[in-house]
This record gives sequence, structure tokens and C-alpha cells, in this order.
Amino acid sequence: MRMQGRRARSAAAAATALWLVLLLPAMAVSGRAVKKDGPRRWAAEPWRGRSALDNGLGRTPPMGWNSWNHFQCKIDENMIRETANAVVATGLASLGYKYINLDDCWAELNRNSQGNLVPKASTFPSGIKALADYVHEKGLKLGIYSDAGTQTCSKTMPGSLGYEEQDAKTFASWGIDYLKYDNCNNQNINLQQRGQEDPATWAGSVGNSWRTTGDIEDNWNSMTSRADQNDQWASYAGPGGWNDPDMLEVGNGGMTIEEYRSHFGIWALAKAPLLIGCDVRSMSNETFAILSNSEVIDVNQDELGVQGKKVKSKSNLEVWAGPLSGGRVAVVLWNRGASQASLTADWSEIGLNPSTVVDARDLWEHSTASAEGNLTATVASHASKMYVLTPK
Ligand SMILES: *[C@@H]1O[C@H](CO)[C@@H](O)[C@H](O)[C@H]1NC(C)=O
Ligand SMILES: *[C@@H]1O[C@H](CO)[C@@H](O)[C@H](O)[C@H]1NC(C)=O
Repeated sequence: MRMQGRRARSAAAAATALWLVLLLPAMAVSGRAVKKDGPRRWAAEPWRGRSALDNGLGRTPPMGWNSWNHFQCKIDENMIRETANAVVATGLASLGYKYINLDDCWAELNRNSQGNLVPKASTFPSGIKALADYVHEKGLKLGIYSDAGTQTCSKTMPGSLGYEEQDAKTFASWGIDYLKYDNCNNQNINLQQRGQEDPATWAGSVGNSWRTTGDIEDNWNSMTSRADQNDQWASYAGPGGWNDPDMLEVGNGGMTIEEYRSHFGIWALAKAPLLIGCDVRSMSNETFAILSNSEVIDVNQDELGVQGKKVKSKSNLEVWAGPLSGGRVAVVLWNRGASQASLTADWSEIGLNPSTVVDARDLWEHSTASAEGNLTATVASHASKMYVLTPK
């Protein structure tokens, strides 16, 4: 959320948004399968031991759209319906973008006499159930937003503090598929119990993804810093629970096409939720080309579910990489410097044996070349190259 009051809060305090799909205080905690199939470099890492929410959801990172980054509080049911239409008509839905998620500001300021949340009459006159029905008929899913405090971050609607069970039942009765649960105005109640800090360390038992950063803004510095903050929690991610460096800004206008391509590629590699944050009803062809790159999406949705990480950084020249199923490796060569440069990923840095020969698939050029020992490319300032390496 980009509310003013919230900005004053610490990053950690602002960083608690859970994807709670079981709409009860569900504590279905299970052990977690040991990762398999990855190159030695990753397989040998210490197991951090997360308790995954075993609700069958989020086996790969969630994909969809959320209203906040572009619209903030200016949302209404017509716009949401048009967005659902556009997600289907453009083909984004068939690429996996299934969740249409309302963020803050969908409800009246006050609960009704029974204590229930009430959809805002001026903007959601048909109610949320009707919206869920509409979205479901299009083969999509509807997400909603609440907050662990007395009011949400915008302070235009109530939070769920003291009404957790009741609100969960309301959401379930409407057919909601996804809950984003924020942490504003929480009265500092049971801070320890709530585990407000560092949700990656605890949220896996109650949600399918959790924020690792404060809110993203539509600019290069914000985007790169979210990527870096999120990177340190990599070992906590896996099927059933994902680190969230916040939603995509691709298409909102504050970054260049190359910067947005880097944003999307790094989010995909890091197994971040891919939640589109622009107006898909009027996105440019360039924006669509980024969001619809199925080869990049495939990296994000790979069944192995291991978060790729920054494995080398020198003078703003970075190599990010991670294992994929089938012994493949995803690599991003990211030039965060101010001028064009040559970047190299050596096999020893990305978990391959030095003698391995691979097919290196360039996911933006859609071309394949053979490589051995390293991958080297000239990369423009703020641009990146993204590859999947398949050992021959
Ligand atoms: C955008 O893509 C559409 C569909 O492929 C095409 O008809 C249109 O000419 C493109 N617009 C621009 C400005 O390139
Ligand atoms: C990359 O590997 C090739 C051999 O395939 C070698 O000639 C070249 O020196 C290597 N480049 C770097 C930067 O290590």
C-alpha cells in the first residue's frame, strides 16, 4: 500500500501481506518434502525448515492481477469486470493469470448492525458475491483484501481485528478464492504472537505467500531494492509458500522497457507471485509482450519451486540463477550499471560442472545456442538477458 501514514512505518511493519487461501485460522501444518533434482550447489544448502501450509494451493507462485499499483482506492465493479474481460480476451488468463484481486477500499467505512463488512454502495452496488460469480464464469478467481488491525491502511474501511472468524465466513460465503491480509493499524496487540517482523520466518504455516519488503514504487531504485531485500529470504520459499517482493509495476510508466523486462525476469526467477499491477484494459504492446512471455512464465511456474538467487555481483554487474526441474538452470545476466557491459556467468557459479555443454535458450530473443563453461553476453544499462540452460 502506498498510503502516506504507512510510509512512516518501518519496512518490516508494512511488509506483512499474506496470501491466506484457507479462510479460517487454519493451522494445517505439515512437514515439507526435501527438494530434489537441483544441481549440487543448491541441493547442498542447509534446510531452513519451513512449515508449509498444506492446503493444496500455491504449489507454484500465484499469478493474476491486483488493483492497487495502478488504481489505489479508485476501484469499482465495472472496472474490475472490464479487467477480468481483458485478462481473458488478451490471452493472459490462458497463460496462467487467474486471480483478479481487489485491494484496499472496497468496503464501507462501517460494518452493518450484524457486524458484517459491507461492500461500498457507491462503487460495488451489486455486491462482492455478484462480482465473484461474474469472475468465476470467466474461468477466473476472485481475491479480496483485509487487514489485521482496526482499519485497513487507507482507513476507509474496517480491518478484521476481533472479527477474524466472521470476516472469513463472509468471504467464504461470497466465493472468495484468495485473501491478501495486511497489517496496518494493528494496535500493537500481541506483537510477538502475530510475528509481525520477518514474515518469511513464520508465515508459511498460515499463508501461501508473504511480503518480504515494504511497498514497491514504480521506479528503478524501488524495484531493485525490493529484489535485493527479497533475495535474502530465498531459502524460505518453496511449493506451498512464496516470498513476495510486492506486485508488478510493469506497464505503469515509471520505468523503461528494459527495466520492466528486468523487473519481470527477476520476479519470475525469484519465484515471486506474478501479480500484474497495470491497467490491462489499455496496456501497450510492449507491456503485453513482457507479461505474456511464456518462456519467462515457465521459469516462474517450474514444478521444482526453488527461488533463484543473486550468485554474483561486481560493479553492478550481477548474475542471478537457480535450478529448474530436469537438471536445467535459469540464469539472468543483469546489468545494473550506468553503461553497457559484458557479463559472464561461469558454470561454477550456477551449479553446473565445468565440462557441461548446454543448450542456452535466450528467453527474450527466443533463440538457442550451444554453450560450454560459461555464458557471456553484452548487456545494455539496466537491461538483462535471461536464459534457460539445458545440459545436453
Ligand atoms: C499492437 O498489437 C496489435 C495486435 O497484435 C496490432 O494490431 C497493433 O497494430 C499493434 N499496435 C502497435 C502500435 O504496434
Ligand atoms: C568462456 O568460455 C570460453 C570457452 O567456451 C572461453 O574461451 C572464454 O575465455 C570464457 N570466457 C570467460 C569470460 O570466462
